[in-house]
Amino acid sequence: MTGKDGYDLVVVSNRLPVDFTVDDEGHVDWKRSPGGLVTALEPVMQKSDGAWVGWSGAPDLEVDPFDADDMRLVPVTLSATEIERYYEGFSNDTLWPLYHDVIAPPAFHRQWWDAYRRVNQRFADAAAAQAEQGATVWVHDYQLQLVPRMLREQRPDLKIGFFNHIPFPPLELFQQLPWRRQVIDGLLGADLIGFQRAGDASNFIRAVRRLTGYTTRGPIVTVPGDEDRPSRNVRAAAFPISIDSRTFDELARTPEVQARSREIRADLGDPECMMLGVDRLDYTKGIRHRIKAYGEILQDGRIDVEHVTLVQVASPSRENVGAYQELREQVEGLVGRINGEYAEIGHAAIHYLHHSYPPEEMAALYLAADVMLVTSLRDGMNLVAKEYIAARSDDRGVLVLSEFTGAADELAGGALLVNPHDIDGMKDIIVAAANMDVREQRKRMRRLRRRVLADDVSKWSESFLGVLQAMPSRDTPRTHAPSRPTDEAPVEGEGA
Ligand code: F6P
Repeated sequence: MTGKDGYDLVVVSNRLPVDFTVDDEGHVDWKRSPGGLVTALEPVMQKSDGAWVGWSGAPDLEVDPFDADDMRLVPVTLSATEIERYYEGFSNDTLWPLYHDVIAPPAFHRQWWDAYRRVNQRFADAAAAQAEQGATVWVHDYQLQLVPRMLREQRPDLKIGFFNHIPFPPLELFQQLPWRRQVIDGLLGADLIGFQRAGDASNFIRAVRRLTGYTTRGPIVTVPGDEDRPSRNVRAAAFPISIDSRTFDELARTPEVQARSREIRADLGDPECMMLGVDRLDYTKGIRHRIKAYGEILQDGRIDVEHVTLVQVASPSRENVGAYQELREQVEGLVGRINGEYAEIGHAAIHYLHHSYPPEEMAALYLAADVMLVTSLRDGMNLVAKEYIAARSDDRGVLVLSEFTGAADELAGGALLVNPHDIDGMKDIIVAAANMDVREQRKRMRRLRRRVLADDVSKWSESFLGVLQAMPSRDTPRTHAPSRPTDEAPVEGEGA
């Protein structure tokens, strides 16, 4: 930042794109955490003088803002109690299950809500302090839905965008939330609200109509003004996120990754078919459904462990939240039972790995896998499906993909779609995937790769920021039109 008071682009997300470590003497160090969002935003941030506001990931860690790779990083401090109530509680035990079809029951606690409001205000204050006059602020995800309005109240000069990385639920579920109106008002502080799918944007518009009575026209909501402020238009649209496909494709072509993928297959005993699941250990991912189906296929004798194996990577996640602890017990119990029943010496039925791996190892696993199983019960997008495709420059492999992922909207043309609740249907599709001939695999994978390599994450961020920055910077002239609900349907498929 030179000769100015603030930054032209401020990104706000729950976590900063770096991992912090604190040694025994209390010395704080950090290293970049590889992630899609930072890859997408780094070039834009560097071009436009950007700052990133987010939590350090540890309790009570106070770190002054610092520069990294031409970005200003602004850590927000959270106490251990705030982590418990705002992050593990309201974000991940209230909103997360509520926004994912109540697969697990959401818990509603007033103390958690108070912490969510307080922490959102802290993020908003930090962003307001960083932004140059007229700057663009891009707020990310369900942990920070109140930030747009809190920010606008302090800084009406800003262009404010919000992107929801997870699904937005149908009104019938959303209205369970005791603070539903406050969440809608929080989001409506933005000028542009992005969702993964057109269906999420429609759910949001419908919630706005029913819960606020504001006028909506297609994807536009008119937020009425008051004595101090004119009315404003807010746009809600779909911008499906992607990955850094070129970089992933290149990584998977390196001799080291290719050699590692051969080594993985050899270590597994060179099976005819290696199946792979890669997920955060989360109840939304349908891991139990997938393993149940796989176990039944073994039981039915349609595959056997001498020829087929399943590698399940389940990376640790949100381990202090009860529903995640229960899931771990269930999945590990199921894996143990299936291995006990069907494994033979030298032939495990399931290789279960409760770890996270670096991108090189992930690319090698994808390359090694004949069949990739993505069986989420609900998923905003699912970037694992896109990584698998980006890794397969050999045009081989079959993607089995749940209908309930955002990715299914884009990848239906080449993937085998499944309903993970339909265990018999899923079993048939998994067996068909294992037996698919090479010509059919090639035809499908080429189609998938065309899509994933064309729509990468920089296109996503450019598209969102392009629409946001093209929106009129001044509030719309004051109108005295009565605000009343309309039944007009939102326009689907807006945006990228
Ligand atoms: O999918 C939503 C998301 O918040 C991602 O942005 C993130 O990578 C993932 O969930 C894990 O979240 P957490 O920060 O809770 O570990």
